[in-house]
Amino acid sequence: MIKLDERLAAIAALVRTDKRICDVGTDHALLPCSLCERGAKSVIASDINAHPLEAARANITKYGFDDRIALIRSDGLKDIPPCDDIIIAGMGGELISDIIAGCTFVTEDTRFILQPMTKEPVLRRFLYGNGFEIMLENGAFSAGKIYTVMLVRYTGQKQSIGNSFAYFGKNTDPRYINKVNLQLRKLANSDPTLLGILKGETS
Ligand SMILES: C[S@@+](CC[C@H](N)C(=O)[O-])C[C@H]1O[C@@H](n2cnc3c(N)ncnc32)[C@H](O)[C@@H]1O
Repeated sequence: MIKLDERLAAIAALVRTDKRICDVGTDHALLPCSLCERGAKSVIASDINAHPLEAARANITKYGFDDRIALIRSDGLKDIPPCDDIIIAGMGGELISDIIAGCTFVTEDTRFILQPMTKEPVLRRFLYGNGFEIMLENGAFSAGKIYTVMLVRYTGQKQSIGNSFAYFGKNTDPRYINKVNLQLRKLANSDPTLLGILKGETS
């Protein structure tokens, strides 16, 4: 079995393996290969850059999934046919928002599995402002840092969210809450109102 780190394992755990899956920005394609090991029959591994696609092809062949994983060079979802579960991981929250904004095939059954490296408040505001809802969030460690992994669906109902939800979302992992509290304390040097949304440290 391919060994995934905690971050990739947390992402894989939210993917429906009986659906059409796309991993946007796949890089090494370890996630699509691991999903095939777990039973996925139809996976697109896509990337904007040629070099990652070469590494992806090498892994797909190494693990024997050339017949189940299609490699597509694409900027975001521009050249991707309709899929049900779309993974966008290891990118900044702004880029993830832009990629979702370019999706032409969203339905109420579409799921996004998102793992932003930075700018989670930007991503959460984009999602709720554009008719998406976060179903759940989990914390996951990778290379000594804690990240949030989100499961998102489309509802069509646009909503505004408050500052506290923008920063913490639905993640209740104490490791993630500690990280966000630290970030907020640093940001509060320039904007003291942010101190008011420290979770568990203010009433
Ligand atoms: C840091 S790697 C993350 C790899 C993998 N998703 C993960 O989480 O381990 C980011 C990947 O996204 C790709 N990428 C960056 N911008 C992209 C875009 N607009 N569309 C598709 N892929 C993109 C990069 O080429 C790179 O391979």
